[in-house]
Amino acid sequence: MAIDASILVLNGPNLNMLGVREPQIYGSMTLDDLEAACHERADQLGLTVDFRQSNHEGELVSWIQQARTENDGIVINAGAYTHTSVAIMDSLILSELPVIEVHLSNIFKREPVRHHSYISPVARGMICGFGPHGYLLALDAIANIIDRD
Ligand code: DQA
Repeated sequence: MAIDASILVLNGPNLNMLGVREPQIYGSMTLDDLEAACHERADQLGLTVDFRQSNHEGELVSWIQQARTENDGIVINAGAYTHTSVAIMDSLILSELPVIEVHLSNIFKREPVRHHSYISPVARGMICGFGPHGYLLALDAIANIIDRD
């Protein structure tokens, strides 16, 4: 499969600390390593990836708004904003783009506060618990969705 589409891969708060942050939960891969792996998979799929991270909710919202006209799909790990942000949910709705939610950890095996997601109801699907490989699965899924649509 080779399609020509641009995907915004968004990372929320504290994901800039990957590799250092709780490696027993999030692994030893850094965000730069993860970005490189995403570009490699995207090349195979014929996707272009715009890979970003922010610790600021409003910045994430602004990037999602821009994606409405600049990208063909969104892969998002909103970090802790997953569990709190109606604003990010609203911006994903207004983007009118296919959204795949991803988490490195299995959020359902963790504290109850992580069991609810504001992203899931507006996403085509959610991948969690597979570490960095989940991002590659998400790119596969979004390529498939765009190809099919
Ligand atoms: C996370 C899970 C969230 O609960 C947490 O706040 C994160 C990372 C994950 O990738 O497993 O920051 O989204």
